[in-house]
Amino acid sequence: MEKLNGNKKLRVSVFISGRGTNLKSLINFSKNKSSTIKISLVISNNKKAKGLVFAKKNKIRFLIINYNNKKVAENKILLYLNKNKIDLICLAGFMKILTKRVLNRYKNKILNIHPSLLPKYKGLNTHKRVIVNKEKFTGCTVHLVNTKLDSGKIILQKKIRIFKKDNAKTLEKRVLKIENQLYPKAVKKFLFANF
Ligand code: GRF
Repeated sequence: MEKLNGNKKLRVSVFISGRGTNLKSLINFSKNKSSTIKISLVISNNKKAKGLVFAKKNKIRFLIINYNNKKVAENKILLYLNKNKIDLICLAGFMKILTKRVLNRYKNKILNIHPSLLPKYKGLNTHKRVIVNKEKFTGCTVHLVNTKLDSGKIILQKKIRIFKKDNAKTLEKRVLKIENQLYPKAVKKFLFANF
């Protein structure tokens, strides 16, 4: 990662598909006086994503990408990342898989948040699977994105205990809360450690 000098802030693009609570927490973090990041661009593949409201409220430029044709979609993504001089990408509930073309262009500069203690429970429906398997703990992970799903280097994790009364819904709620706290911390750690 390019070293920052003076007051220059790292330009971050957050990719979403839905609710956007992690986007919201990253925006709040970027507003801290001491923060070294600026959320410069929000990208959504879904024009109805609720999270877009946080971009609008905070006057952050946003881009809706039509994914009917993946190649065309990624061309547009790369064009706008370039135009907006993006240094770091944070995937936050983005439901599309990026191809090698984007991954190579932003090698070791794409983070993702996943609602499990990776390497356990990669993929979808994590909370349901965790309950079915009667796990005692679950949590969330921020990791670097590589070509294998949910498998890049782990930056930070947070673990919570699963209670007897928990079900997939209660767990989702409790994990989401710690995700929202973890993502800014992980970004900070990532920038500091300069992975
Ligand atoms: C989170 O659970 C995240 O871990 C997963 O998708 C969900 C996004 O939630 N990748 P939100 O849109 O940030 O509220």
